[in-house]
Amino acid sequence: MKTLRTLMTSFTLAVALAGLGSAPAMAGDTTAAAQLQRWSAEAGAPGNAAKGQTLFTTKQGGEWSCASCHGQPPTQPGKHASTGKAIDPLAPAFNARAFTDAARADKWFRRNCKDVLSRECTAAEKADVLAYLINLK
Ligand code: HEC
Repeated sequence: MKTLRTLMTSFTLAVALAGLGSAPAMAGDTTAAAQLQRWSAEAGAPGNAAKGQTLFTTKQGGEWSCASCHGQPPTQPGKHASTGKAIDPLAPAFNARAFTDAARADKWFRRNCKDVLSRECTAAEKADVLAYLINLK
């Protein structure tokens, strides 16, 4: 009886570990278009690409604009303004991974908006920026 339970436990563990191991290789859980819809719905208005471009390229009182790290236009690899580290292109047409992981997009929006605007971006601002980025072809 005890052996069977031990066996079952290691089996469960192996399955759990296998699942964990494959997680980072998995494709994202969403698409750029779906996230644009999500933020537009939250904002109650469709994203506005022109406003998004202005937000993206303009400093908002701080040292950096979004373009300081992501480049302008963000169709090529960017370069972190303080560390110099390369950043994959932000425009979805030039980076298949961009905006395909909801948690990842949320995390970076939170962090980068705090760096640039000293606050989080609103849903409307996220929809605007993504509308701009999706339009880059
Ligand atoms: C100080 C440098 C810096 C600034 C300024 C910056 N970003 Fe970023 N951003 C990064 C880095 C680094 C990443 C992660 C890129 C990677 O892992 O390849 C990132 C990733 C992102 C992502 C995640 C994209 C995805 O893969 O889904 C979004 C969205 C984003 N930035 C939006 C913005 C916006 C909007 C602004 C302006 C308000 C901004 N960023 C300003 C450095 C910056």
